[in-house]
Amino acid sequence: MDWKNFRLHPDTISQVNERVDLIDLISDYVVLRKRGKEFVGLCPFHEEKTPSFTVSPSKQVYHCFGCGASGNAIKFLMEINKMSFPEAVVYLAQRYQIPIKTLDLPEQREIEKSLSLREQLYEVLALANHFFEYNLQQEHGKHALDYLLNIRGLTRENIGQFRLGYAPDGWNSLYTYLVEIKGFPALLVEKAGLIKKRSQGNGYVDYFRNRVTIPIMDRQGRIIGFGARSLDGSEPKYLNSPDTELFSKGETLFALNFAQSYITRENKAIVVEGYFDAISLHCAGIKNVVAILGTSLTEKHVKILSRYTSSREIIVNFDADNAGYSAIERAVNSVEKLIYSGFVKLRILTLKDGKDADEFLKSESEAAGKYRELVEKAPLWLDWQISQLLSGNDINNSDGYETVFRSFVQLLSKINNNATRNYYLSYCAEILSNRRGVVGGFNSEEYKLIYQNLKRAIEYQNKPNNRGTNPRDYDSLLYSTSPNQKTYQAEFTLLFIYIYCPEFREEIENLLDEKDLVFSLRHHRKIWQKIHQFNCSDEDLNGTNVLLSLLMGNQEEDTEYKQTIASLLGGNENRQHILASPSHYIKASIAYLEMIKLERYKQYCQEQIKELSLEKDQEKIRYLSEEIMAVTRELEKLKAARRG
Ligand code: UTP
Ligand code: MN
Repeated sequence: MDWKNFRLHPDTISQVNERVDLIDLISDYVVLRKRGKEFVGLCPFHEEKTPSFTVSPSKQVYHCFGCGASGNAIKFLMEINKMSFPEAVVYLAQRYQIPIKTLDLPEQREIEKSLSLREQLYEVLALANHFFEYNLQQEHGKHALDYLLNIRGLTRENIGQFRLGYAPDGWNSLYTYLVEIKGFPALLVEKAGLIKKRSQGNGYVDYFRNRVTIPIMDRQGRIIGFGARSLDGSEPKYLNSPDTELFSKGETLFALNFAQSYITRENKAIVVEGYFDAISLHCAGIKNVVAILGTSLTEKHVKILSRYTSSREIIVNFDADNAGYSAIERAVNSVEKLIYSGFVKLRILTLKDGKDADEFLKSESEAAGKYRELVEKAPLWLDWQISQLLSGNDINNSDGYETVFRSFVQLLSKINNNATRNYYLSYCAEILSNRRGVVGGFNSEEYKLIYQNLKRAIEYQNKPNNRGTNPRDYDSLLYSTSPNQKTYQAEFTLLFIYIYCPEFREEIENLLDEKDLVFSLRHHRKIWQKIHQFNCSDEDLNGTNVLLSLLMGNQEEDTEYKQTIASLLGGNENRQHILASPSHYIKASIAYLEMIKLERYKQYCQEQIKELSLEKDQEKIRYLSEEIMAVTRELEKLKAARRG
């Protein structure tokens, strides 16, 4: 239908405006609550948390005090559905049973035809479902009924509520019924997606054969299509109606007609993957549940569901079988924008052993109660992703740390809601700072550095022009906090020599002092402190064994401390080398720690400069630049010395 060149009769427009019920219409899109003479709700035209969208039933107009949107029913439809003016009028006329008159006759005919096609499709589909329901009760449908009752564990009442049926095993039993007996045109039945042309020869065959049929209904409960499960293992396991004038898989949610009032009541919607997952949950009393139809979750789905809740909370309970993480990620992928912009609050529910909801309900006692608990505990999409990223990687070794750092940057750079991004930025920095052997946790030096680095890396990531131009920038952000095996080795070596070679103790003390170095790994620092506590009180510390036994003495220490002591006692493979030339090892370790320290300081200065303003902070910038140059020279010297 070409709506652009289509001229409505003015009578139709004025009748529409008279007859329309704006509260009824807007309630399809917004949860409205009565307040005084008016109704209020969350504005569908902009994001908001407290309702400023008002609808006046007496004036039949809406107005949003937040974004200024306002108008009547026709304007509302034009804006919310991006309809043209005539489209909106025709929609309303149809909804309120107003005859449509156009300014010229041929066009009027065309409209009537299109409207009546939809009406006829509804009729054919309703009749087809009666046919399927009838066949489920016949002798030849007994295996299907047995399947539903015994294998699916449904009651006759359940079957009646969801209007399940059976498509017989012949090639054309539905065709015969609808076309030959009921006299519908074959073309119409084909347009309803119920029969299809034979691939060879003339005539039609039924679309669904020897399958349990599951009618898919729109929000008013009218049948718009079918899902059908095979009973004999034939493929595909589920066959869905093709997309038709009435039915589009990516825009439809199974069981929405049953679930809608429960979704509003519970202020959240659960989305499952399979028809029978939805059916089983409904039958178990969990009714705010809909199912997708073999597609991924689409923006359209999310938008439909978000109309029913003020929380915009959706719990996705998809199969997490072998493919697990990536399968769910793929299924949710296309709605990421809505998540990262804060439009919808998506939670992920996965059931143990990769079970789907239907299997879960059958496998547990008190399953419905447990399921509800799991729904309450389901983590937000971002939290879930973070835990998935962490689960495969150990941030205590540098490979794992670097992988996690990079994937955190990827994840965080997608979040475009500022408050949310800042929250997760702190959260990720805290996770990364809590590594074994590092003084981490919120507020630690380590945390601050990682926070800064993540933040810079995200900015880097988000500037497409910068991407790839200077990967060294990005890498230095990453490596400066990566738990470094070499730092560990250098510190360990110094402690080792200190304990086993008393004649070098003074040299180590002096060098650390002179270069202003401290042990950066927590348990190394602890050992260093303990050694000095003993020193104060005990004259007899020259003996290595005395020192070691004192360090071991305290049984309250954590396992990591104990592990370090254990390695000091023996397990070090370098032991012989170190003891053969302690002086050399001291120098190398000190030089290494000094380099790390200088690199961090240099980076700190660079960070500071980036935060400063060129006009106002000239002094500071000059100072910092000089520091950077000095540090760079120092580093060059150290590197040269190492090479030489
Ligand atoms: P699953 O393959 O996960 O099966 O399909 P299920 O729902 O657990 O099936 P049962 O319990 O063995 O009966 C999940 C959903 O994916 C769509 C259907 O919508 C199904 O409910 N699907 C699956 C298809 O569209 N076609 C298929 O061949 C299989
Ligand atoms: Mn299943």
